[in-house]
Amino acid sequence: MLKLEPLAKSHDRDGFDCGSDPLNLFLKQTAWQHAERGISRTFVLVDEDAPPLKPVFGFFSLNLCQIKSETMPAAEAKRLPREAGAVRLGRLAVHLEHQGQGLGKMLVMGAMRKFMEIFRTAGGIGLFVDAKDANARQFYEKFGFIPIPPNDLELFLPVKTIEEAVDESD
Ligand SMILES: CC(C)(COP(=O)(O)OP(=O)(O)OC[C@H]1O[C@@H](n2cnc3c(N)ncnc32)[C@H](O)[C@@H]1OP(=O)(O)O)[C@@H](O)C(=O)NCCC(=O)NCCS
Repeated sequence: MLKLEPLAKSHDRDGFDCGSDPLNLFLKQTAWQHAERGISRTFVLVDEDAPPLKPVFGFFSLNLCQIKSETMPAAEAKRLPREAGAVRLGRLAVHLEHQGQGLGKMLVMGAMRKFMEIFRTAGGIGLFVDAKDANARQFYEKFGFIPIPPNDLELFLPVKTIEEAVDESD
């Protein structure tokens, strides 16, 4: 059965290919160092029964961030103090061989659940993501992410949307 696990040495980082070199390189070279230094955390989707090295079907990474309300759409900005805490979905990708099978959705739902753990402990206004292109933006919009003008490749998923999505899927 597929399961999300925190990135570990037992995962086959080198065998991962999502078709995007920067994302592949992040998993191979950066994700582990960042996790050790507390800069971000990466979670991989693996078959829990696979022997090491477990093939990686997909992954995402999260880090804490601080948002200036003046950068938010007016409707959101008016409800916020000048700065507020949030969580950034730094990277998300699915192995080429498994794209189009619902794993991207599993990863986004996994990221939302992790957000709720942080939210219950320390608050946070939602999840932010930098989509790498217009295609990725459309993918995120499916889950209720709202593009933030003027650069519509940055998107925001409010905590309310996350709570509803997580409740529905439980
Ligand atoms: C984008 C990506 C994560 C999608 O993963 P996936 O496993 O193929 O997506 P899923 O099968 O879970 O699809 C979930 C939904 O998103 C839609 N979708 C998938 N890729 C999409 C895209 N590129 N644009 C718009 N919609 C997309 C699917 O049609 C599906 O919609 P449905 O629920 O209405 O049927 C994957 O293609 C990938 O890793 N691409 C390379 C890296 C990348 O672009 N990462 C994005 C972060 S910058």
